[in-house]
Amino acid sequence: AFAAKPGTAGLAFDPIAPVGRLVDEFTVPAGYRWQPIIRWGDPLFSSIPSFDFDAQTAEAQAGQFGYNNDYLDIIADPSGKTGVLVTNHEYVNPNLMFTPTADAAELRRRGEISKAAMGMAVVEVERRRVGEPWHYVVDGRRNRRVTVETVFELTGPAAGSDLVTTADDPEGRWVKGTLGNCAGGTTPWGTVLSGEENFNGYFAWAADTAAQKRYSGTATTTTETGWEQYDARFDAHDPRFVNEPNRFGYIVEIDPSDPTSTPRKHTAMGRFKHEGANVTIAEDGRVVAYMGDDERNDYLYKFVSKGRYTAATSTGARRRNMELLSEGDLFVARFTGNSPAAEITGTRALPSDGAFDGVGEWIALTRDGESVVPGMSTQQVLVYTRLAADLVGATKMDRPEDVEPSPLTGKVYLALTNNSNRGRTAPLDEANPITGNRYGHVVELTETAGQAGETFGWSILLLCGDPATTASTYFAGFPKELVSPISCPDNVAFDSEGNLWISTDGAPSTIGYNDGLFRVPLEGPERGNVQQFLSVPREAETCGPVIHDREGLVFVAVQHPGENGAVGAQTSFFPDYVAEHGDGTVAAPRPSVVQVWRG
Ligand code: FEO
Ligand code: CA
Ligand code: CA
Ligand code: CA
Repeated sequence: AFAAKPGTAGLAFDPIAPVGRLVDEFTVPAGYRWQPIIRWGDPLFSSIPSFDFDAQTAEAQAGQFGYNNDYLDIIADPSGKTGVLVTNHEYVNPNLMFTPTADAAELRRRGEISKAAMGMAVVEVERRRVGEPWHYVVDGRRNRRVTVETVFELTGPAAGSDLVTTADDPEGRWVKGTLGNCAGGTTPWGTVLSGEENFNGYFAWAADTAAQKRYSGTATTTTETGWEQYDARFDAHDPRFVNEPNRFGYIVEIDPSDPTSTPRKHTAMGRFKHEGANVTIAEDGRVVAYMGDDERNDYLYKFVSKGRYTAATSTGARRRNMELLSEGDLFVARFTGNSPAAEITGTRALPSDGAFDGVGEWIALTRDGESVVPGMSTQQVLVYTRLAADLVGATKMDRPEDVEPSPLTGKVYLALTNNSNRGRTAPLDEANPITGNRYGHVVELTETAGQAGETFGWSILLLCGDPATTASTYFAGFPKELVSPISCPDNVAFDSEGNLWISTDGAPSTIGYNDGLFRVPLEGPERGNVQQFLSVPREAETCGPVIHDREGLVFVAVQHPGENGAVGAQTSFFPDYVAEHGDGTVAAPRPSVVQVWRG
């Protein structure tokens, strides 16, 4: 029925039916095929052994594709026949990576494998002809793994401050590792940004200050990875490393063209559970980054650079552009509804003006690079950004995930994945109007004073859920009996025609279907018509969608397939679907980057 939409020739498809949550299949529309490009453990270098579940070492893992791929981009070179695949490796699932043990030495050895399985990967890809699917290149010149041991440079006003110094780094400028790398964005100058999201889980926290508590929650003495037992920098009780957690929670920038470059963490963009960052160029040439803090009742942020973008044709453009995110101002969003509070009932009934909508402002936390938050220094604003945002009256949101401006219209789309605390620890408001928001929503934001300006208009585009069972879902007014059920929006992307693509994380436990990837037209009579393109296998999350519709190609990172299973009791055999290896050992599901094409 949807196969012949005007202007969608590259990726015309009939939406798939939703797939039940116990089905261990990767499902694509009729006429499409899929194949992994690279899987956890695939070697990036010929000197590194092939994946062997039973012979894992930290040294091998540091040269292999990591675990739990999340953010993804496929950046083609001008020829279109070579390029790089860049991905985050957000976290590990030890229950699926290893057979159980209680041996302390073996647990420590596995801890080191886990450090090597996290971080990021840059992998060259190639193909014979433009438009064909890609394959990855062993020993590609740009191949690189970034891990929990890779050294990063801190940039911006908080670099070198006494909030970020440790016994190992008295200068406060050189941080070992990156943690919880979730979503991200590719900049107009060709670098990749990555959000350090759930970094808090890797530290044992003293939580003896309000600032620490705002990031850690309650005090802890142990962590899931157990690194703190032998690597003191993960123990914030240790007087030498009380500031180590202050060195995580940033936007990191990596240059995928130079495998020897030192990746950076930008303090000017603030510190929180960064989901990711997406950059666009404002009318005056400053660059603007949109960023979510993925926590219940946390905030939406925007960074505006001091410097202006240099066109790629100028000499030294890349070097200059790579300084843009080190200096600028940070803003946090306040949303104001235009309907009476009494009409926000918490049940999805639209207010009498027919829309959850209103205006908003970007409240400055810094101006000309200096704090404007009473009682907080610039360094404090950038390291304890959540506290600064609390003080200025920002709007508590339903877990801001990916937020991305449309390359066609400049309108900004914000995925709010869910919030069990809405209406309990934070009041209802018109931008977050659902009590206990179980299925999440998507907000459309229109800048009203230019892309770098300080006012905006907004309206809710989608109230997610299964329209067959949830009466008051909302799809921008499109007839809901025609749409695909969708729940817990997480990552967003655009195709070349400006359609929004949304991937989900949480559908199985909320609407009973596997997570997937969905297309939503934003303009014209089809606006709001959510159509499901693919479904990931059992207990997986759909991440990092990349839409190359002109080539008829779609890419996703399949994260944590079979995550509720265990070795010997697998619930997923993705992507190879071999129940047992030839030698009788068990088959582990493997997080993988998958490409989908017409064929
Ligand atoms: Fe790692 Fe907010 O998703
Ligand atoms: Ca309204
Ligand atoms: Ca995410
Ligand atoms: Ca997520």
